[in-house]
Amino acid sequence: MIRLCDNRDFETVYSIINEAAEAYIGIIPQDRLKDPYMPRDELKHEIADGVVFWGYEEDKELTGVMGIQNVGDVTLIRHAYVRTPRQNKGIGAKLLSELCGQTNRPILIGTWADAIWAIRFYEKNGFRLVSMEEKKRLLKKYWSIPGRQVETSVVLADQKWFQLHQANETSPNRSFHS
Ligand SMILES: CC(C)(COP(=O)(O)OP(=O)(O)OC[C@H]1O[C@@H](n2cnc3c(N)ncnc32)[C@H](O)[C@@H]1OP(=O)(O)O)[C@@H](O)C(=O)NCCC(=O)NCCS
Repeated sequence: MIRLCDNRDFETVYSIINEAAEAYIGIIPQDRLKDPYMPRDELKHEIADGVVFWGYEEDKELTGVMGIQNVGDVTLIRHAYVRTPRQNKGIGAKLLSELCGQTNRPILIGTWADAIWAIRFYEKNGFRLVSMEEKKRLLKKYWSIPGRQVETSVVLADQKWFQLHQANETSPNRSFHS
């Protein structure tokens, strides 16, 4: 069952994120790896900033969480984590599908360039990597992350974003016509 998380789920969300983030150990750059990966204060800040967490519940326990955040004209999928023993069983795909169904805006997802399993997961679910140039622009526009993290991250976008973006690129130059 997929349900909205509330304040009572805070410790569980915190625990799931930090357990699943152990997958990053030895993979993402050492200088980006904190312990815990997401401290409570940072999680509180993310929620205060508008990240809404949804959870996948099995036997009355949350086993996976995923956040959704509207920023400007896009929706971001944030902090996708499934408890380690429950990974690779379709939970992430169900959460992603539910969250994507909640928005009509183009959807963007940022993740670590070295987390190839996560990139593959999003690609299998219809997302595509944007170019390096576009990634830098999007991370600066829609995320609040340090420069170093921009270097070590990638951005994936859904079909809607690519359609709009290509439409913008190929649309006639307005100043030429005005
Ligand atoms: C990424 C994550 C959220 C996906 O959720 P999930 O429930 O495991 O994914 P699903 O079962 O729906 O999808 C499985 C697909 O995801 C990828 N995947 C998920 N876990 C994997 C693993 N341990 N090893 C390799 N690929 C994995 C694969 O592409 C897999 O499909 P395949 O086996 O046919 O290649 C989850 O694996 C996770 O929490 N990983 C660790 C933290 C992380 O990387 N989070 C992403 C933050 S942006």
